[in-house]
Amino acid sequence: MALADILVLGRMNALVEEELPKHFTIHRIGREDVASLDPALGERITAIAGGAHVPVDAELLGKLPNLEIVANFGVGYDSVDARLCGEKGICVTNTPEVLSEEVADTALGLMLMTVRELGAAERHLRAGKWVSEGPYPLTRASLQNRTLGILGLGRIGKAIARRAEAFGMDIHYHGRTRQADVAYTYHDTLTGLAKAVDTLMVVAPGGASTKGIVNAEVLSALGPEGIVINVGRGTVIDEPALVKALQDGTILSAGLDVFEKEPQVPAELIAMDNVVLLPHVGSASHLTRNRMGQLVVDNLLGWFNDGRPVTPVAETPFTRRKQG
Ligand code: NAP
Ligand code: 8YV
Repeated sequence: MALADILVLGRMNALVEEELPKHFTIHRIGREDVASLDPALGERITAIAGGAHVPVDAELLGKLPNLEIVANFGVGYDSVDARLCGEKGICVTNTPEVLSEEVADTALGLMLMTVRELGAAERHLRAGKWVSEGPYPLTRASLQNRTLGILGLGRIGKAIARRAEAFGMDIHYHGRTRQADVAYTYHDTLTGLAKAVDTLMVVAPGGASTKGIVNAEVLSALGPEGIVINVGRGTVIDEPALVKALQDGTILSAGLDVFEKEPQVPAELIAMDNVVLLPHVGSASHLTRNRMGQLVVDNLLGWFNDGRPVTPVAETPFTRRKQG
């Protein structure tokens, strides 16, 4: 017998798609189906499995009176109203740790590509310009002597910092709290961090508390040699302010894996040669996405078999399911 009726939001990772039907009855909806969700189906749903495509907000939660758990595919869960879930006694889980090293690898690759203009250099070769025009111009920036400022020194931020140490970078960070277990230089304001470094690595979560905090003032503090790398969430950067800062030379360049309105990327950014743009691929290997998928499945099985989620988020620190 199926353990529960699950609402699957959009199409999920292949492992999740294969495993969930072995244990659960699956009902799938897309963003456009939320408003017309059948109330009789809504009554039966006790779990959600989803990613960022369909927001788990007040509208959807209001249609699922018996919902117990939201298993989010991704460590970032800014598309889930976790505070409201907590108030309603609904557990939210995410996929921490299993992707940290992969995302840190991507972040370092993106930083190197941006600092040393590797994408533009490759485009130069492919366009035949090495033959017709000569070598690619020397890059204005070098990683040597750069100072790295990490906004969000969490699991991924620390994995990035370890790698950056190996590259000889001096490391500073900003978050809401100073961390006792690291020797990196702490700044209690983001502008203070930006003034002290020339390379800003954004790896903070999305959501209301970080919306647009990398703003014109922060970019100006970073200065004309400044480089911004974002592998956190697009919403953390004030995107129009970033475009302007790149256009008028307030900063030197940017490497972006995430954007405010994915998959839409501002045409101004696409037109610029001094930026590197990736389509949100931080964790996108089969290995890591399957580890994330397995954790989604394990959270749901843990909840319905043993009454225990594996990785509940901070807003819903549930250790046991209420039975009966
Ligand atoms: P984490 O361990 O929770 O770390 C988040 C860090 O951000 C913490 O150090 C936290 O420090 C800081 N932070 C939170 N709110 C803040 C605020 N308002 N102002 C300043 N700092 C704040 O999370 P993680 O596992 O490292 O993941 C971080 C984020 O990376 C995810 O939420 C997700 O958005 C993003 N991500 C992107 C990809 C990708 O493919 N590009 C993949 C995975 C994750 P304090 O609590 O001290 O402020
Ligand atoms: C995924 C991510 O790309 O874990 C996160 O927060 O941003 C990425 O690992 C995303 O969650 C899958 O849609």
